[in-house]
Amino acid sequence: MTAKRPLRALLVEGIHPSAREILAAEGISVTALDKSPPKAELAELVREFDLVGIRSKTRLTREVLEGANNLLAVGAFCIGTNQIELGVANACGVPVFNAPLSNTRSVAELMIAEIIMLARQLGDRTIEVHKGRWMKRAVGCREIRGKTLGIVGYGHIGSQVGVLAEAMGMRVVFFDVVTKLPMGNNRPVRTLDELLHESDFVTLHVPATPQTADMIGGSELAKMKPGACLINASRGNVVVIDQLADALRSGHVGGAAIDVYPEEPEGNGEGFESALQGLPNVILTPHIGGSTEEAQEAIGREVGTALANFVTRGATTSAVNFPHVDQPLMEGKHRILNVHRNVPGVLGDINHIVSESQANIFAQVLATDPNIGYLVMDLDHEVSTEVCDRIGALGTSIRTRILDDR
Ligand code: NAI
Repeated sequence: MTAKRPLRALLVEGIHPSAREILAAEGISVTALDKSPPKAELAELVREFDLVGIRSKTRLTREVLEGANNLLAVGAFCIGTNQIELGVANACGVPVFNAPLSNTRSVAELMIAEIIMLARQLGDRTIEVHKGRWMKRAVGCREIRGKTLGIVGYGHIGSQVGVLAEAMGMRVVFFDVVTKLPMGNNRPVRTLDELLHESDFVTLHVPATPQTADMIGGSELAKMKPGACLINASRGNVVVIDQLADALRSGHVGGAAIDVYPEEPEGNGEGFESALQGLPNVILTPHIGGSTEEAQEAIGREVGTALANFVTRGATTSAVNFPHVDQPLMEGKHRILNVHRNVPGVLGDINHIVSESQANIFAQVLATDPNIGYLVMDLDHEVSTEVCDRIGALGTSIRTRILDDR
């Protein structure tokens, strides 16, 4: 057996300390950097680590991933994973974990704030007072109690918004392409048109897909109740901005709160222009739906836990680019993890090597995608690194490790 060394994790871009705590508790040695390393140094740096955690600015390209022979897994401490070449990571046997759930509540709470802001024209009132104009009025300003909220996309965020809105006394209807369990008294409607006709507020919580691109344009806006308001904190291309601006100018749409745009600046401080700027009762925010300290901490925990579960038991159930396996550990059993090219005969080759080592297979779970297979195998007695090396040396193997020993 080779001497064990602690696993090493590199966390860059100021990832929340909650991730470090979780990894350190598993005996992993963590190096944390505030910024993304310079591009020229990234490949060399990543090569030294078993785990790498990034946020949205660090690009894990083919060159970086293919050179990282020690790399076991990547944590994307954010929602998006476009900055990582996921297919290359998959082919290298490296699962990538992200944090799809950690900012759900933050987005949902902002939606409630915005519904009230739109109902009370709060954006305009605060701008007026900041500019030294006293414009007290009640006309056109309403309570949200008893009004109808229409939620398009009743997934994680949409359903949370529904629960909170109902607690505020709203009637809630939702439209989703998948049949969803309604929360509380939330009520599904059969079509988007039905939702648009009924709702005083329409809020969008769909993913970016070919079907949701330009989903809300002039003809959908025309179907909304006169004076109803639109909220979009989902993806920038779901709403046709110019057509929304027209509907707001005509007064048919009574207000809008927009957090996401077809084109967004890369960083803070850059200029930004939109056809919605300066229109009445329009709240414009810089993609902050999920941006809270609680969400950052939760992201650290969610991805940190996924990485810890991967190194301690080989669990990949929340990976975005990898076959899903999560087999509970059993006391006294010894686990081998093998990632291989998905071609016929691999299992036979591996089992042959195991049987030659006189070990009995206690549990074996294989999950595949079109390119790779991921095998988690528990043996009834300790196998030598020689067995692991023999499995690793098979022409089909990509990554092989004995748990705890790499
Ligand atoms: P989710 O995947 O849990 O829910 C999306 C729902 O939309 C699913 O129930 C799905 O069946 C439904 N859907 C898909 N296509 C549809 C269609 N054509 N019509 C109606 N329903 C459809 O996603 P989650 O976590 O609720 O996120 C929703 C959106 O919010 C995503 O686009 C995400 O990128 C965005 N988001 C924005 C943030 C911000 O800072 N503004 C932060 C977090 C997420």
